[in-house]
Amino acid sequence: MTFPKKFLWGGATAANQIEGAYDVDGKGLSVTDVTTAGSLKAPRMLTYKLNGKLGKTPALPGAGLPAGAEGAIDPNEYYPNHVAIDFYHHYKEDIKMFAEMGFKVFRLSIAWTRIFPNGDEEKPNQAGLDFYRKVFEECKKYRIEPLVTISHYEDPLHLSEKYHDWQDRPMVDEFVKYAKVLFEEYKGLVKYWLTFNEINSSLLMLNLFGNSVSNDQVYQHAYQKLHYQFVASARAVKLAHKIDPNYVVGNMICGIVDYPLTPDPKDIMLNRHSWERDIFYCGDVQCKGKYPAYAKRLWQEHHVKLDITDQDLIDLAEGTVDMYTFSYYMSNVLTTHEVTDKVNGNFAAGVKNPYLSYSEWGWATDPDGLQYYLEVMNDRYELPMMVVENGLGAVDKISDDGKIHDDYRIDYLRQHIQAMEKAIDNGVDLIGYTTWGCIDLISAGTGQMSKRYGFIYVDRDDEGKGSLKRMKKDSFDWYKKVIASNGADL
Ligand code: BG6
Repeated sequence: MTFPKKFLWGGATAANQIEGAYDVDGKGLSVTDVTTAGSLKAPRMLTYKLNGKLGKTPALPGAGLPAGAEGAIDPNEYYPNHVAIDFYHHYKEDIKMFAEMGFKVFRLSIAWTRIFPNGDEEKPNQAGLDFYRKVFEECKKYRIEPLVTISHYEDPLHLSEKYHDWQDRPMVDEFVKYAKVLFEEYKGLVKYWLTFNEINSSLLMLNLFGNSVSNDQVYQHAYQKLHYQFVASARAVKLAHKIDPNYVVGNMICGIVDYPLTPDPKDIMLNRHSWERDIFYCGDVQCKGKYPAYAKRLWQEHHVKLDITDQDLIDLAEGTVDMYTFSYYMSNVLTTHEVTDKVNGNFAAGVKNPYLSYSEWGWATDPDGLQYYLEVMNDRYELPMMVVENGLGAVDKISDDGKIHDDYRIDYLRQHIQAMEKAIDNGVDLIGYTTWGCIDLISAGTGQMSKRYGFIYVDRDDEGKGSLKRMKKDSFDWYKKVIASNGADL
């Protein structure tokens, strides 16, 4: 049998995309709480107050609030994350359904603003700590191992403004303070931790949509933010091991596979350098504990000057991660040549691959890419790996028989599980798989509810209407069978 006996099958979510209850029990505002809904055509917007007046600006990579503006809620806008799927009040019911599918692991994130509402308080908010304790205890009841992301796209709004989105060093201490509270509080309840979700995303998005935003200033911002996050992550890893040597801490990379379009050596070089621009760059620092040689070239390209201290370098070296985890949805094609057939989806850009099919949101379905990625990273880092996000965002319809026949989702997941199987057969040390959005949730990219990933349907639409009732899709029983057979019955 290919999959190891104790393979961690499960599903993944993020606090801001499921919990709702955005202002309940002392929770403070996060950046996502001032982000409106968007669509495939219209970007999500950040809303703010400037000189007493409300305004909004696209929440796009490289963009930020106008100088002097403060993030604020506009009562005339719709914020999908404020209610999301109300996991905050449905967690028992939801975890019970995950248990019914046989989940061994449930990936969730902690909302920083439940623990430290503004971020810079000295003492944590007890109600926030209690909520996650109850969630973890519920998981334990079903022998489900929580896999906890400490930061998943929801920095406290106050901290983000105070430290200019990770441009000031004290942000590192705030993160470490927060992580320490979690490691101490949940000792014995949690074993697996991830520091930052898709840490490479700030750079990745710039590179993907580089033409519109590629000035040196935004790169300076992205590289400095990343450096402080690398240090924060490394210090958290060290602390975790000190607090509980059983803790297993991973990084988390947005894993998009790049291919060259042609055998033109210029395309081959472009492709190699593209891997280095964020995926290897972040993986190398977090797994090898130092900046790679090519980092200098990357910084020079954009005249970047970083604040890096000797102590930072020590922390990076001492705080390498225990496992490599990543999200995988699609691949991407690059070329130095002129092409007309382009992809224009959400978070997907570049040349269209004639060998692949694309989702409604322009994401290429490429299971071979997953095998490829796993094998590349296994060779490079020789660490245990987990695929902590993978899935198909699609519109689901309730059929006349009252059921949701999501065979397209089953096909997608089956192919990716087969790809993982091949990678394991080729020697990859893969220890777990958590499909993204195991229960329908709010899309991070577009803020839509209609971009669904779940085995469990949630009755809520893009305008926030619906009963929030949960329903099993066909994929629910299919995944249950997959887990029960440890991947043999696909
Ligand atoms: C990953 C994020 O980028 O992709 C998730 O970690 C996100 O938060 C997921 O939801 C899918 O993207 P989207 O835009 O379909 O929600």
